Amino acid sequence: MSNGPGRRKRKQGAQPTRGRFITVEGGDGVGKSTQTRLLAEALAGTGIDLLTTREPGGAPGAEEIRKLLVDGAVGRWDALTEALLHFAARRDHLVRTVWPALEAGRWVVADRFADSTLAYQGYGQGLEGATVETLYRLTVGDFAPDLTLILDLPAEVGRSRAADRSAGKHRYERMDLSFHRRLREGFLDIARREPLRCVVIDASGTEAETHTLICAALRERLGVEL
Ligand SMILES: Nc1ncnc2c1ncn2[C@@H]1O[C@H](COP(=O)(O)OP(=O)(O)O)[C@@H](O)[C@H]1O
Ligand SMILES: [Mg+2]
Repeated sequence: MSNGPGRRKRKQGAQPTRGRFITVEGGDGVGKSTQTRLLAEALAGTGIDLLTTREPGGAPGAEEIRKLLVDGAVGRWDALTEALLHFAARRDHLVRTVWPALEAGRWVVADRFADSTLAYQGYGQGLEGATVETLYRLTVGDFAPDLTLILDLPAEVGRSRAADRSAGKHRYERMDLSFHRRLREGFLDIARREPLRCVVIDASGTEAETHTLICAALRERLGVEL
């Protein structure tokens, strides 16, 4: 089973250097999609060849699985079934979209990745963290993002931003406030446990202010001049 593109071990000139994989995480309405777009524009402006994508989804099969996850009744899946669907979609997304792009030397910016499964199905819906970890090892292997931006905002603010955005709410947006509070704590916990991979970004300011914080994190962590 293939688990991820090779690291930089190739002979010079043989193939392009593997691109970087950046994930944008956080609860609903924190500004992930907005900031993914702004970051992509900034990176493209420096001449970096990049792809933006999202989870659940990001490949044709994964987008079909997405519909099962975002439509329908809040309680339609138990937490383990839901996590399995997320990891099935994630593996399809990696195999079809992310790994080939990285292998070709492109950078990939993903609007959500595996931390969302640990936050939503683990901290939010009560699935054991070790179970999520096992599924990760099975489907993703030892591949991981080079940098994860965790956008942080009080759950109430995120929900009110998300409510202003759209009238029809998807499944996760219909889950209650205490669920969304657990998500926030979950994401902060993940960042505390993996400080080398994760940076917490205060997402309470304007779009431009948050973008400035993200650019600073990329300079510091990945050495990109933005
Ligand atoms: N910094 C910000 N301040 C106020 N509103 C924002 C900010 N960033 C994004 N928004 C708005 O809040 C809503 C949710 O943002 P979005 O990027 O879709 O969040 P997410 O993808 O995390 O759910 C959108 O209507 C967006 O235009
Ligand atoms: Mg979004």
